[in-house]
Amino acid sequence: MWVSDFPGARLHVVTGKGGTGKTTVAAALALAIAAGGKRVLLTEVEGRQGIAQLFDTAPLPYEERKVAVAPGGGDVYALAIDPEGALLDYLHMFYRLSPSGIPARTLRRMGAFEFATTVAPGLSDVLLTGKVKEAVIRKQKDGTPAYDAVVVDGPPTGRITRFLNISHEMGGLAKVGPIKNQSDNVMAVLRSAQTAVHLVTLLEEMPVQETLDGVAELTAAQLPVGGVIVNAVREPVLPAADLAAAEAGRLDVAALAAGLKEAGLEPDEALVSALASEAVDHAQRVALEERGRDSLGALQRPSYELPLLTQAVDLGSLYRLAELLREQGLA
Ligand SMILES: Nc1ncnc2c1ncn2[C@@H]1O[C@H](COP(=O)(O)OP(=O)(O)OP(=O)(O)O)[C@@H](O)[C@H]1O
Ligand SMILES: [Mg+2]
Repeated sequence: MWVSDFPGARLHVVTGKGGTGKTTVAAALALAIAAGGKRVLLTEVEGRQGIAQLFDTAPLPYEERKVAVAPGGGDVYALAIDPEGALLDYLHMFYRLSPSGIPARTLRRMGAFEFATTVAPGLSDVLLTGKVKEAVIRKQKDGTPAYDAVVVDGPPTGRITRFLNISHEMGGLAKVGPIKNQSDNVMAVLRSAQTAVHLVTLLEEMPVQETLDGVAELTAAQLPVGGVIVNAVREPVLPAADLAAAEAGRLDVAALAAGLKEAGLEPDEALVSALASEAVDHAQRVALEERGRDSLGALQRPSYELPLLTQAVDLGSLYRLAELLREQGLA
């Protein structure tokens, strides 16, 4: 039977340095989990409409919509959560205030939302994570979970711990009462084995460093670190022995020229030396990537690699990335 590396996780939060592929990986992970007949909710919390762009649909309203069918028949729904929608939802759930009714409209007109988030900047995160948690624990009428899993395209590494560590954020503000209860309940889910926070990185110095720092911060806040997803991996184009020689500046230039001759080219000195210096650059990059892999390996977390795609990321490539995540056991 198929077992994923995170069998207990129903909430997958994807973070990583800006631009490393969070949105792409979150979408691929949602497809991977949905494969074979599951229902998965893919959410974003930063008001960027990245999911709609990726799935090439109109901007997502504050409403769960089906955006893709997974291989084998699962469904991926998407939701762009914004703090105002989440606040109205919250008032509806706890005070039976209709989101479209007059009180909600009045609140909006009075600027209640701006007021609340200005007084308590952390409130916005409590509302966003509260909505995520609601989707995780929501049941259908027959008592089964509404979603098998929720995947969050999360804030970048530099903000993820603050974003999830809401009890700390709210600590000074609400010591008792409904907001305190709400944030305690959300925190309990976020800290449980139901949650896994995955980090996306590239094999470059800055993203690797942010990943190491991010794991340390999440761990210190007792938030469950999931896997490390190394995105946009390039295969070395030279065999290991040549890489080592090139990096050490011991590239056999005569052999290179001979190889070019064999390939039917008439190499002049300029061509040979240009190629040799490119080989050195390549070898240095591969060596840097290896050092990145070593640092990430020291984290002792499950890790996954996705290739650098040569064309723009479309639905077809998301399916392919999803398949690779499944093969490697993330989903
Ligand atoms: N494996 C890959 N191969 C090639 N291109 C990729 C790959 N993964 C992501 N990309 C591209 O890199 C860019 C950044 O990816 P993405 O938007 O997923 O990153 P992000 O971390 O969500 O960025 P942001 O921090 O801006 O939200 C996009 O253009 C995406 O199509
Ligand atoms: Mg993004």
